[in-house]
Amino acid sequence: MLPRCAISVCHVFVLVLCLSSAEDFDWTKNDHGSFYYGTFPAGFSWGAGGSAYQTEGAWDKDGKGLSIWDVFSHKKGRIQQNDTGDSSCEGYHKIKDDVGLMKELKLNHYRFSISWPRLIPTGIKSDHINEKGIQYYNELIDHLLENKITPIVTLYHWDLPQFLQERYGGWQNISMVNHFNEFANLCFERFGNRIKYWMTFNNPWSVAVEGYETGEHAPGLRLRGTGAYKAAHHIIKAHAKVWHTYDTQWRAKQKGLVGISLSGDWGEPVDITNQKDIEAAERYVQFYLGWFATPIFHGDYPQVMKDFIGRKSVQQGLGTSRLPSFSPQEKSYIKGTCDFLGVGHFTTRYITQKNHPSARSSSSYFTDRDLAELVDPRWPDPGSEWLYSVPWGFRRLLNFVKSQYGNPMIYVTENGVSEKMLCTELCDDWRIQYFKDYTNEMLKAIKDGVNVKGYTAWSLLDKFEWDEGYSERFGLYYVDFRNKNKPRYPKASVQFYKRIISSNGFPNQREVENWRRKAVETCSTSNQLLAADPLTSHMEMVTEIVVPTVCTLSILLSAVFLMFLLRRRN
Ligand code: NOJ
Repeated sequence: MLPRCAISVCHVFVLVLCLSSAEDFDWTKNDHGSFYYGTFPAGFSWGAGGSAYQTEGAWDKDGKGLSIWDVFSHKKGRIQQNDTGDSSCEGYHKIKDDVGLMKELKLNHYRFSISWPRLIPTGIKSDHINEKGIQYYNELIDHLLENKITPIVTLYHWDLPQFLQERYGGWQNISMVNHFNEFANLCFERFGNRIKYWMTFNNPWSVAVEGYETGEHAPGLRLRGTGAYKAAHHIIKAHAKVWHTYDTQWRAKQKGLVGISLSGDWGEPVDITNQKDIEAAERYVQFYLGWFATPIFHGDYPQVMKDFIGRKSVQQGLGTSRLPSFSPQEKSYIKGTCDFLGVGHFTTRYITQKNHPSARSSSSYFTDRDLAELVDPRWPDPGSEWLYSVPWGFRRLLNFVKSQYGNPMIYVTENGVSEKMLCTELCDDWRIQYFKDYTNEMLKAIKDGVNVKGYTAWSLLDKFEWDEGYSERFGLYYVDFRNKNKPRYPKASVQFYKRIISSNGFPNQREVENWRRKAVETCSTSNQLLAADPLTSHMEMVTEIVVPTVCTLSILLSAVFLMFLLRRRN
């Protein structure tokens, strides 16, 4: 999520801030610390998610083409421990097992993404369609539906076909708009009779900033100050085109919805009485979620982005802004292309005004914002270094979406917390706490009038965590990556999340505390199973390596002995 340079800024500037600064929040009378007992609206959809490259494995199976993540992760030094998604959770071979886990949780929906190069190996539809890839997603979709789990599908969760990157420069090139539209159209044609919730892109902020600005993600380009804006511009156009394709060609028949999943941290002013901090915090959110949401809901980039990037570009002696612009026709084509908004949210930052020099050499998305990010050292941070648990920020972000974009229908597409790899602990009390508090803030937001229809816990399984490899675990289910069968074990949070789902909320304090106690009690049994697992892997090694080796050696020795005997006879 956040690049490391920003994180180190955060650490340097860590402030001990009084949490009470958030108490003036005026969307509700409840202060952010209190827990709200109550239920979600009837029909609220509870789910969990994952994405193709993070879980499927089978990177070169059954005719799949290469994606930019296959190539990126195979380069040494790009990913923690040089991990790759080559086999990951082996989800490609485990449809039934994984749907079984979803049933265990009694999920209403499952969010997954379709790998573009698995369906179209080069990314160009007229080249070749890989029917085996189609077959895999057909099986997954059918199996979900047979088990009454609604599939929610993302078309692009970062795995661009490598060929399109090499041939055209990927999202730097406008031709991606048509290629992506053809891929989406193929998905509507083949799967649209059964899929009613589509999302064009997942977290385009990351694609643009981490893929084309900082280079921490595939394709690893560092086009500072321009790359991210250009990529985002093409992504927004591609999103709009796909929405129109669905609207004109498929909607009447298939009756589905097309949205986009945007990520956004919440930004809270350090000093809520300081106008400069208030504006800086607003800028932080506008440069994050607003960058994509404002064109899609209102037809153009946030005014503050146009102003800041435009002014800096002039100071840098550039003839035009580094932020591209939309023509009037494009604006009206893009505006309103969202049937529902997917919101991915994990964490919050305190924000203060900070001027950055405008020198051309140091221009970047980050310096364009003229702000500094801070964290409260008392915020829990059990896993990823960027992920502090700040539940009240979630409610604020949801209310921001409501007020800025005309109260759209929202599906929370990602929310969750990680733990470090070294910690093989199934008793994930901190995840229980995170889910409990974040879903409770979502409930408060719904009471505020925010139109949230569903929630997706991130993620169903531990999985490949991009540049962090397998070092961060977000799963409700623990995956033993050391074992080639990739067995899954439930963490305590499975039991807890299951209770939230079956009660559709939080009935009363006594019960919720009981859930938690029981969840933590049962996980110790699973912990023992996991502890026994090295034995299983060891036995596997014995059967797969030691036994064949011993047999071969015995045969060889017998042959040598026989020859020796024969010679002696002669
Ligand atoms: C957002 C990304 O969409 C998802 O793939 C990732 O697992 C989470 N961030 C956690 O880093």
